[in-house]
Amino acid sequence: MDERLRKWDEKFARGDELHAFAPSMPLPDAIRGLAPGLALDLACGAGRHAIYLAEQGWRVQALDGSRVGIDRMLDEARRRGVEGRIEARVGDLESDSFTLEPDAFDLVCDFYFLHRPLFAQIRRAVRPGGLFVAAIHVEDAAGSEAPHSFLLAPGELRALVGGWGWEVVHAREGASSETGHRHATAEIVARRPR
Ligand SMILES: C[S@@+](CC[C@H](N)C(=O)[O-])C[C@H]1O[C@@H](n2cnc3c(N)ncnc32)[C@H](O)[C@@H]1O
Repeated sequence: MDERLRKWDEKFARGDELHAFAPSMPLPDAIRGLAPGLALDLACGAGRHAIYLAEQGWRVQALDGSRVGIDRMLDEARRRGVEGRIEARVGDLESDSFTLEPDAFDLVCDFYFLHRPLFAQIRRAVRPGGLFVAAIHVEDAAGSEAPHSFLLAPGELRALVGGWGWEVVHAREGASSETGHRHATAEIVARRPR
């Protein structure tokens, strides 16, 4: 197994990175008032966003490379009685063969995972009228670390989605809401035109 994914397995096995199964901003605000539909949670980890969405009545496809993370999610979903709404899959999102079905999801989430080639897939996978919601760490504005494979450049996410011609419902860049994280976060909520 890939060394990085083995480390994620170890973290989830220790109970790290569970975030008390509380969703990160901006997901709660992004879905408030929406009729639940089909969501995709990319790199779901231990499933805090997938579980939150399932509790709000969404059906969720949740994908991660960590088997331990997926098992944690399913255990918690079972405990909360929402496992029937979550379809979980272990898979490598960085594999060249990884593809998403076009126009398939009312909502695609990407929280704290960056693999730039995925953006083109996300763009296709959201249904017309559907949402892309993300929060991803960003390098310091000083640009001391640019370019970085797992950190966005300042302004990168907003510019990317703006370039798709989608309505940017929310965009924010600043101190991370994840306590103790040294990198800032870029948040986006964007709607694909109908
Ligand atoms: C920072 S965690 C974020 C987890 C979750 N989205 C959250 O916000 O709690 C990053 C996640 O990416 C997953 N990951 C890293 N590389 C991956 C890959 N190549 N394919 C699938 N998942 C991967 C890890 O297993 C981990 O669950």
